[in-house]
Amino acid sequence: MATHRIAVIPGDGIGKEVVPEGIRVLEAAGRRFGIDFAWESFDWSCERYAETGAMMPEDGLAQIRSHDAIFFGAVGFPNVPDHVSLWGLLIPMRRGFQQYVNLRPVRLMPGIPSPLAGRAPGEIDFWIVRENTEGEYSSIGGRMFEGTDDEVVVQESIFTRRGVDRILRYAFELARSRPKKHLTSATKSNGIAITMPFWDERVRAVADEYPDVRTDQYHIDILTAHFVQHPDWFDVVVGSNLFGDILSDLGPGVTGTIGIAPSANLNPERAFPSLFEPVHGSAPDIAGRGIANPIGQIWSGAMMLEHLGHADAAAAVMAAIEGVLTTGPRTRDAGGTANTIEVGTAIAEAVASAR
Ligand code: NAI
Ligand code: MG
Repeated sequence: MATHRIAVIPGDGIGKEVVPEGIRVLEAAGRRFGIDFAWESFDWSCERYAETGAMMPEDGLAQIRSHDAIFFGAVGFPNVPDHVSLWGLLIPMRRGFQQYVNLRPVRLMPGIPSPLAGRAPGEIDFWIVRENTEGEYSSIGGRMFEGTDDEVVVQESIFTRRGVDRILRYAFELARSRPKKHLTSATKSNGIAITMPFWDERVRAVADEYPDVRTDQYHIDILTAHFVQHPDWFDVVVGSNLFGDILSDLGPGVTGTIGIAPSANLNPERAFPSLFEPVHGSAPDIAGRGIANPIGQIWSGAMMLEHLGHADAAAAVMAAIEGVLTTGPRTRDAGGTANTIEVGTAIAEAVASAR
């Protein structure tokens, strides 16, 4: 039996409510498919920050460096500025563990009404591949003459050939593995006239290695419109850190509730643990009431199973999610009245009886 050591970071708010449901379903999948998990929990969070002044211990990364994966809930709470929680925990893990791929599915699921009229499950099914370590989210820059009329603020974008090529290669490989073999690149080489032409150039160079993949590109502005009007056009969409960030909220947004959207922060070389988390945050507005939708966390668990080499168990979790979305129980955001634990338990039971 394979044993996987998983670092569990529930974080803040509803993270602490949905992570146990993710574990409940993964345990059910483990029993059904012969996978053994060793869960180790870490209290890294805004709560910890409020007590100690740090989101995680100084040697935090070293403590979880040799775990097989990180199962993450959400961080952020009104008493701590968002840039502190982000740069104090998530970004150090993404960068320190070279999780240069942020991967999110955009899939219209049964039982979830899409804000887009006239779309049925199966019509929208694509992946967003976001560059996760460089690009526009750099810490290079500064501020001068602060608070005066002469104030100057600069933040540089960083695009390296290594960084761009490796995210493109990941996206092309993913496109190649899918029936449509179609890759779309998000660009803005008309307005951002230095880094984005470079990005386009690397897309053409890497595309030469994948003649079986059909490649196209759109400027980010019209691409966001196409996401709404023609989401059926897409198969794999790759973008820089900023463009990917925007697209990867828009995609789940047009397919329904943010409560079911999952994501993975991947180190494809597996030199470091990858991190699996729902797209949503800590939702302070509903935290503590037991009504959060656990499906984003549970679906993230399915992505973790896939990454750990258990495609059959991942497929069983997905089938269980689809089944429960169709028949209920559902949480309020998905039009039902059930609580977090009821939905988690129903999905775990469906996994247990998977054939
Ligand atoms: P949010 O995702 O926490 O909430 C947005 C809205 O969606 C809220 O109305 C919330 O109730 C609802 N919602 C979110 N998840 C839900 C679920 N599972 N079930 C039902 N409803 C759900 O985003 P918001 O409000 O912008 O941020 C709150 C905090 O979370 C902030 O501190 C922010 O920095 C942090 N955050 C953390 C993220 C992370 O840990 N990766 C990602 C996004 C935000
Ligand atoms: Mg985002």
